[in-house]
Amino acid sequence: MTTGRAEPARLAVLVSGRGSNLQAILDACARGELAGLARVEAVISDNPRAQALDRARAAGVPMVYLLARSSFRRREEYDRALDELLEHLHPDLVCLAGYMRLVAPATVARWRGRMLNIHPALLPAFPGLHAQRQALEYGVRVSGCTVHLVDEGMDTGPILLQEAVPVYPDDTEDTLAARILQVEHRLYPAAIRLILTRRWRLEGRKVIFEESDEG
Ligand code: GAR
Repeated sequence: MTTGRAEPARLAVLVSGRGSNLQAILDACARGELAGLARVEAVISDNPRAQALDRARAAGVPMVYLLARSSFRRREEYDRALDELLEHLHPDLVCLAGYMRLVAPATVARWRGRMLNIHPALLPAFPGLHAQRQALEYGVRVSGCTVHLVDEGMDTGPILLQEAVPVYPDDTEDTLAARILQVEHRLYPAAIRLILTRRWRLEGRKVIFEESDEG
């Protein structure tokens, strides 16, 4: 898969909270390594209090949606609404950026190879919630972050990029999270760039990037 497109790729970003990764993607689209290559067309939050919503509006994202989980009686109804919204928006890529909810299998299947997630650990270590706390409690000396394609599992999809950071003896959950977050803000735009500019294929779990003019 590759682009070779003339128009910037249209991104839909799913968020639940602070939105610093959304901000990094917005900045990369505006004046960074995604300039001319991608633009954030839509932001969807499941949380009405997400700071990410303010960031999206401040950046002038054309479509900002609140799909509050609390306004749906059943999980299936929320899942169907998200599925229909994505189908309607029809972005080139769906980026989960601090989106704290499992995407339903039918939606994952529809966007396979075009849905990305970032996770604050070196997967497959420490999937799920509180990855930084899990890493500290385990006693690892190195952690980091992972951008991966989304599959039906929890943080289990094929890995696009990873980068390590050291874990220091006096680290708290907050200091480790901040060190990892700095890297996340660089790694997510880099992964989006990769998938938009390089031909790639899957061999089992492995994402194989083919040679391209970009090198
Ligand atoms: C980030 O550290 C992201 O990797 C993590 O939540 C934080 C969101 O921060 N995501 C997960 O843990 C998903 N399993 P942000 O809202 O400031 O981007």
